[in-house]
Amino acid sequence: MIQKDLRQAAEEVLRRNDRGTFTAPSPRQYPHLWLWDAGFAALGWAALGDYERAYREIRAALRGQWRNGMLPHVVFYDWPSAYFPGADVWRSDLASEAPAELPTSGITQPPVLAFVVEILTRYDPDRGRAAAFRREAFPALYAYHRWLHTARDPEGMGLSVLVHPWESGMDNSPLWDAALARVPVGDLPPYRRADAHWVPEEQRPRSADYDRFLALILHLRSHRYGESGVQTSSFRVYDILFNALRYRSEEALWTMAAELGEPTGEIEGWLARGRAAFQAYLWDPARGFFLDWDAVAKARIPVIAAGGFLALYAGLATPEQAHEMVARYLTNPEAFAPDGGTRYLVPTVSKAEPGWEPRRYWRGPIWINLNALIAHGLRRYGFVDLAEQIRADTFALVARSGFWEYYDPRTGEGLGIGDFTWSAALLLAWDLLEIPETR
Ligand code: GLC
Repeated sequence: MIQKDLRQAAEEVLRRNDRGTFTAPSPRQYPHLWLWDAGFAALGWAALGDYERAYREIRAALRGQWRNGMLPHVVFYDWPSAYFPGADVWRSDLASEAPAELPTSGITQPPVLAFVVEILTRYDPDRGRAAAFRREAFPALYAYHRWLHTARDPEGMGLSVLVHPWESGMDNSPLWDAALARVPVGDLPPYRRADAHWVPEEQRPRSADYDRFLALILHLRSHRYGESGVQTSSFRVYDILFNALRYRSEEALWTMAAELGEPTGEIEGWLARGRAAFQAYLWDPARGFFLDWDAVAKARIPVIAAGGFLALYAGLATPEQAHEMVARYLTNPEAFAPDGGTRYLVPTVSKAEPGWEPRRYWRGPIWINLNALIAHGLRRYGFVDLAEQIRADTFALVARSGFWEYYDPRTGEGLGIGDFTWSAALLLAWDLLEIPETR
């Protein structure tokens, strides 16, 4: 059980970051709504018993939806702000599909909302309210997933392609190094990053990465965020974490469709194709791990990153594959396990990767959302002790340092921005992420 004082501290973070309609991931560093952050925040509100507030969070994310179904990764509530790149860079008004009244970004983020809504409405003690909210949210969630399977599956892979590292949620992971190096930067307009104002630069992405992040936005914008921009993007990858969470969400969507009396056939097709694609394209038998696929280079991305373990959360690994991933990597001190140098599970990237940097954002530090999803995935495959160890490590990190954005796996020091919403929300909602027995 979560200790009373930690619980109270987590609740205080959520309340401090609450903007009424949405919960800012951090009011200073990230003052708008981010898509997967909103899902995690909603779980936090539910864990506090405030289901009304949780539903409001989901509604705020869905209000950003484009007419083609896309859910944007940022909805610019409380705009203008000092955030870069802001609504003036994204210019969603150039896209005919974007909502007219609310500026948004033009890309998406890991699709967690459908499984979050299924969880919220499963635990809400007010059954009438829960049923009404499922009915309300279902069409928007369904439209989003259809977009993920059409606009974002131009090659008919059964997987959704990402055209910007930010869509993965893991902005500067070494997963993207080779693919980003091929992105032409061209003549960028002069710009000023705002992200290193509150956080030391050594904990944030490098400037060369930022140039490419911006160049990719400008490319997509020049195509008015249409499908031609996706097809001609110099950055196109199929990511494990993103597609595993998509699959998990589509199982939840199936459950909700069945209960609502909606047709389930199309969703069953998505699930079957997604499952087959994980085995056909993403499992690397030689390395014994799920690897991302670079659609431009037409090759696997040979980087061992913690996102690979999310195949377990989605139930997409065979028991043999799960055992191999755990034995070769998760419990191996040369990869993810503590070795005296590192003391906590789970660094975001294997220590054996040349790109591993224990203090720099998505290149090595521990993130609480990944830890929670990995732990529940391990439990699903029977690795109960390991799941417990990850949970204990996560709670120890927070007890030691507070609710930081990420943590140094060697010292447990908190990094990035403090009072970070999903770190607080997921500590409260850890158990809500458990996988239901059957579908
Ligand atoms: C950063 C993270 C991303 C998160 C966002 C808001 O961009 O990489 O995953 O959603 O901040 O917290």
